[in-house]
Amino acid sequence: MTATAIITAAGSGLRLGHPEPKALVRLNGTPLLQHAARRLVMSGVVDALAVTAPAGHETAFRALLPDAVVVTGGATRQESVAAALAVLHEDCDLVLVHDAARPLASPELIARVVEALRAGHRAVVPGLPVTDTITAVDPSASSATAALGTVPRAGLRAVQTPQGFHRDLLDAAHAAAAPDAATHAAGPGGTPTAAAPDATDDAGLVEALGVPVWLIPGEESALKITTARDLALAELLLAGG
Ligand code: CTP
Ligand code: MG
Repeated sequence: MTATAIITAAGSGLRLGHPEPKALVRLNGTPLLQHAARRLVMSGVVDALAVTAPAGHETAFRALLPDAVVVTGGATRQESVAAALAVLHEDCDLVLVHDAARPLASPELIARVVEALRAGHRAVVPGLPVTDTITAVDPSASSATAALGTVPRAGLRAVQTPQGFHRDLLDAAHAAAAPDAATHAAGPGGTPTAAAPDATDDAGLVEALGVPVWLIPGEESALKITTARDLALAELLLAGG
């Protein structure tokens, strides 16, 4: 089986607040995009790389990763992944989707995701136990609001990337999630099927199809860089080896 990794890197990084796209921001002198790509290659389980770039930055991305296929990303992360899926080589049967915003996910973690796919799981994600106490609120609440009840955290995991999928499954999940999917999926009576819910990752799209997702242990170093504080934390992790 041949595995391709899609590195999602087409976001602008508004919350990080740098002038350049987040994937080009440097961590210890190296752009986040290159950190992520190097570890994918070092895992030894990835045969090809595809990268989603923000429109207008494709040339800079190609210069950083000459061996990768660079595609222009979409308005949402889902549309970016779909754009990359559309150009994958026909021989590829396993796909990893990995955020450039998680530059320090280790080669060992990447290899464990692919190992679980090869063992027969069709969708595999890393996850970590949650340490905060989590309470439910009205989703439309903005600031101070009623706490609707603590969710027992023993039953929760914070999901990371890389997420691994058998290609046919990920293709189907994105086809169902495409902005015009409800129209296309209209039944014989013309009634559109329910649109996929707002998933924040690929595993969520697979779950929306009713297909089970397999969870393996994640790692602290696969943290997502969202804010300046996360970048400082990643610098510390890197310095500590
Ligand atoms: N991403 C993408 N295409 C988009 C939006 C996001 O490929 N249209 C990628 C980002 O580049 C990132 C990953 O998805 O690697 C996770 O997104 P996030 O951490 O939210 O990054 P940004 O969208 O860049 O950051 P922000 O939301 O703060 O603007
Ligand atoms: Mg974003």
